[in-house]
Amino acid sequence: MAYAPSALALVPFVSVENMLRLVNTVGVETFLTELAGFIEDDFRRWPLFDKTPRVASHSREGVIELMPTADDVSYGFKYVNGHPKNTRTGRQTVTAFGVMAEVETGYPVLITEMTLLTALRTAAMSAVAAKYLAPAEARSMALIGNGAQSEFQALAFKTLIGVDRLRLYDIDHSASLRCARNLSGFGFDVTVCTSPEAAVEGVEIITTATADKQFATILTDNMVASGQHINAVGGDCPGKTELHRDILLRSDIFVEYTPQTRIEGEIQQLRPTHPVTELWQVIAGEAPGRTSAGQTTLFDSVGFAVEDFSALRYVKSLIGRVPAYEMLDLLADPDDPRDLFGMLLRARVELKDLAS
Ligand SMILES: NC(=O)c1ccc[n+]([C@@H]2O[C@H](COP(=O)([O-])OP(=O)(O)OC[C@H]3O[C@@H](n4cnc5c(N)ncnc54)[C@H](O)[C@@H]3O)[C@@H](O)[C@H]2O)c1
Repeated sequence: MAYAPSALALVPFVSVENMLRLVNTVGVETFLTELAGFIEDDFRRWPLFDKTPRVASHSREGVIELMPTADDVSYGFKYVNGHPKNTRTGRQTVTAFGVMAEVETGYPVLITEMTLLTALRTAAMSAVAAKYLAPAEARSMALIGNGAQSEFQALAFKTLIGVDRLRLYDIDHSASLRCARNLSGFGFDVTVCTSPEAAVEGVEIITTATADKQFATILTDNMVASGQHINAVGGDCPGKTELHRDILLRSDIFVEYTPQTRIEGEIQQLRPTHPVTELWQVIAGEAPGRTSAGQTTLFDSVGFAVEDFSALRYVKSLIGRVPAYEMLDLLADPDDPRDLFGMLLRARVELKDLAS
């Protein structure tokens, strides 16, 4: 009898094709809103999670990272890379996939593409942070760095906090034009700018999402006005930052998980005791967010495992509703759990039978 996987062998798998179907079926704005809800729920119960800075393997060209976390019920991890020169060879700067497993048995319950999902979760996270930190009723945002993440950021800010005026800047003008074109049906008033100084002029929020594996200075101190909120997304590795240190010294700084952000975030430029607030404390009502109109706030985003856990949890909740997955024959499941070798022997006999 030919091998046929048992029910225990099969794990739901969301391919890129199915993720595209899932997001478009739900609708990208609804997806961002619901995902943001899952992130906020998980940030409210932050102390319950196992947390560790992500495990990073650096090379000259980029970084490959593993991002694990768990609560009492589920374990999740993401594989993700960051290679700023990849776009020159037609590849993405960031690609990812992830797994969720049940803590009780250790068996995976979901495996999914996470390249699209990372862009969605990063944007949802940024907009959640802005909900607590940006000026009240902010409508305008500069978006510096108009690559893969940029449209997702714009849409999350529109959907979650009502930003509808965008000022785009990228060193590659064609990237800004593509971003503007992709966003044309979403109700934004978009201005493509020819310098970062022009992009930040008069806006309430500045998002930086550039990719460069070195200390960069996308924003200098004179470009940031009091009262602006900065959403700094692109500085997320040792030696890879976007803001001049003087901006950090006059901002109130909010981070995801301090031990990881001290290594990877903008605050790697500051002494290790410089005060920062973890965002979960603000969301849980344990620390203030924005307290005055003149305050300069900075969300020093690097991306933390709990956000990916929320994204995995959200996708898992969706695939019951939307048939956008297939079952993957992932786990060897011998009839007798201890007879794994017997499973191999039986398959060898089957192969011989087939050949004769
Ligand atoms: N914080 C997080 O959670 C998180 C998540 C995903 C990605 N990221 C980071 O966000 C950044 C953007 O990711 P992406 O996938 O959009 O990359 P991408 O390569 O697709 O886009 C980056 C864009 O930045 C532009 N750029 C580079 N230097 C610039 C400069 N000095 N001024 C203006 N524009 C400049 C490039 O021309 C490009 O269009 C990366 O650094 C990535 O590592 C962070």
